[in-house]
Amino acid sequence: MRFPIRMERLATTLALAALVALPAAAQVAPKGKGIESDDYEWNKMEGGEKELALTLEGDIENGEEAYEICSGCHLPSGAGRPDGTFPQLAGQHPNVIIKQMADIRAGRRDNPIMYPFAISLIDQQELADVSAYIQTLPIPTDNGKGPGTNLELGKELYDRDCVSCHGDKGEGDAAKFYPVLAGQHYKYMLRQIHEIATKKRRNANPDMVKIVEKYTEEEQDAVVDYMSRLTWPERSK
Ligand code: HEC
Ligand code: HEC
Repeated sequence: MRFPIRMERLATTLALAALVALPAAAQVAPKGKGIESDDYEWNKMEGGEKELALTLEGDIENGEEAYEICSGCHLPSGAGRPDGTFPQLAGQHPNVIIKQMADIRAGRRDNPIMYPFAISLIDQQELADVSAYIQTLPIPTDNGKGPGTNLELGKELYDRDCVSCHGDKGEGDAAKFYPVLAGQHYKYMLRQIHEIATKKRRNANPDMVKIVEKYTEEEQDAVVDYMSRLTWPERSK
């Protein structure tokens, strides 16, 4: 059965490659309500595809097939790229992946580069499958790190403001949809923290925004540098 599935996947990849060549207007994401709207509620459960996918048991083998299309950017290892273009996904909590994908698909998190691929997952089962597979990938420790020049300040801020949600190993909290940050690239996190502080990351958690928006550039940089060095030994390779 593997062969026909792979052929189907290849055909999808080719069809998408053709789609990508079309004018961008052909696949513009919808604009979902994010943190800029007054009635924004973080991680609202509204009976959509997120809730459905969260109830399904992911099939790791099918997820590996589905992940092929993702691996072009996020790499087969799920390690992403140290230059920050593509985040590390390896070891991420499945429900965090499901939330992020649902947000991107609904236009609550802007990601025009990935959008055509995010909508290529055929259904919520495939979303659950790919998320289950991603969690099995070991978290890399050779991720992109910051310059290491202000780590004392970074640790102080992290321990005061971030550890309660992101954990002392960067393990996050699966039940609460708090992401794993261990092994994440410095440059990617630097871009995210700027976007969180300026409300451009439209699906962000408002309690975090309140903290981060008061940070100076130096503080943002230092905390993210410190975070890029967190490891979660049980899940890291
Ligand atoms: C064309 C390149 C590309 C492909 C293919 C791609 N992605 Fe992405 N992905 C990105 C980029 C770029 C970002 C980060 C965008 C940003 O800076 O906010 C991202 C972000 C993500 C995030 C959010 C990560 C986080 O830490 O919040 C998830 C989850 C994700 N991708 C999953 C997937 C999955 C699953 C697939 C396959 C179905 C996939 N991606 C395919 C480019 C891609
Ligand atoms: C109230 C809990 C909470 C606190 C406190 C918090 N965060 Fe977060 N953080 C989150 C959640 C939830 C997300 C994912 C947001 C979403 O749903 O898209 C996140 C995402 C992030 C991301 C992006 C990760 C990614 O994979 O894209 C960065 C970077 C980050 N947080 C840094 C910080 C820093 C630095 C602090 C401390 C100054 C902090 N956070 C404090 C809950 C928190």
